[in-house]
Amino acid sequence: MIPSVPTVPEERAPGPRPGPDAGPPRIPGGRLPGHVAVVLDGNGRWASGRGLPRTEGHRAGAKAVLDTVEGALQLGLRHLSLFAFSTENWRRDPAEVGEVLRLINGFATDHGDWLHGRGVRVTWSGGRGRMGARLLGDLDELQTRTAANTALEMTVWLDYGARDELWRAARELARQSAEGRLDPADIDAPTFARQLYRPDLPDVDLFIRTSGEQRLSNFLLWQSAYAELLFTETLWPDFGRHDLWAAAVAYSRRERRFGGH
Ligand code: IPE
Ligand code: MG
Repeated sequence: MIPSVPTVPEERAPGPRPGPDAGPPRIPGGRLPGHVAVVLDGNGRWASGRGLPRTEGHRAGAKAVLDTVEGALQLGLRHLSLFAFSTENWRRDPAEVGEVLRLINGFATDHGDWLHGRGVRVTWSGGRGRMGARLLGDLDELQTRTAANTALEMTVWLDYGARDELWRAARELARQSAEGRLDPADIDAPTFARQLYRPDLPDVDLFIRTSGEQRLSNFLLWQSAYAELLFTETLWPDFGRHDLWAAAVAYSRRERRFGGH
């Protein structure tokens, strides 16, 4: 039986939220989302609402990641994708960009042991060209160290944009065709998907965005073709395991049809 946790965050019943000791909801295996993707949004607004610099919002956002990962582990999720830094985020003030990348680096080094100890396989995907050598090295180290873990796969998407990923895939197929290695007539959806950054990941089942914005913002567009969308007013630094659980319960009650009927 599914316990009575609120269905979707925006429909949250008045009254206290589940206490800190409330465990994860019991969702039948077949109704659990296999791959949850999250657009982490609202760090800046969280900080300015408190009269703090935006960077403090990012710092609080890193803590929210830890609680969300713990929630994912307790729930038994297989895949969690986090949109940590987009191809468009480079347009921000360089000081903010530097601080966000430093925080991501600090997250990997400070919490690597915890993630590894909890059996989390950490991978990261996106462009590599614009990242500093230290960040690349530390992320690669964590990825290698946790490669055999199986409790949860957490994919951190960095310098990622779906359009980038898609045109790169198209370019690679065009190259193979031009070189005579691929017949264009053989290009179909599975062939195309094999050129994406992470052909090993399953499609997104549940796509969550925080902070009240209702946009996909160029995150995993191909992989989310049939994803259930869930938008919550909660700002990312306030998000945590209970919000993830509420989202999973809402997902478990939806009827997915994949266009079939
Ligand atoms: C998300 O929070 C964090 C990153 C994209 C790195 P924002 O920084 O976008 O926060 P808002 O949208 O300005 O509140
Ligand atoms: Mg934002």
